[in-house]
Amino acid sequence: MGYKVINIQHKDTLSSGNLLFFETGTDIDFEIKRVYYIVNVPKNIRRGAHAHKQLKQILFCPFGSIDISLDNGSGDKSVITLSSPDKAIILMPCIWRDMIWNIDNSVLCVAVSDTYDENDYIRNYPEFLIYVRENDEQKSTGI
Ligand code: TYD
Repeated sequence: MGYKVINIQHKDTLSSGNLLFFETGTDIDFEIKRVYYIVNVPKNIRRGAHAHKQLKQILFCPFGSIDISLDNGSGDKSVITLSSPDKAIILMPCIWRDMIWNIDNSVLCVAVSDTYDENDYIRNYPEFLIYVRENDEQKSTGI
């Protein structure tokens, strides 16, 4: 499908909270070049509606609850709820995603493999399906 759900490692202390962490090499297989996070989103707002051509990402929600809908363009679709700070989704390229905020002010954090490049986005769903089909054909013919 092109994604993996992981449990983020944590160090817990009884009275002073939890520290969570992930590292390249141990938890993710790409170097992180950019981190962004989305805040001040009201409940029921939908964001996303795009795929990436090359970008690899890890998404996590340290506060609140966000549904992440994933679609590989070849019939595999799933919804993953990020509602715990120790759960993350590692997302490979070429997956269409929509995010829906279940709770006001839930925070979505994303660490990614490259700097921002609008040319890496596919923001039109029919174009995404064509892109997936062409890439699959290239893989099967070795072009
Ligand atoms: P987008 O990735 O579409 O956000 P979402 O999927 O949450 O709706 O980005 C929203 C806008 O922000 C878009 O105009 C691109 C811009 N942007 C940057 O300038 N830098 C960044 O690192 C990111 C992720 C987005």
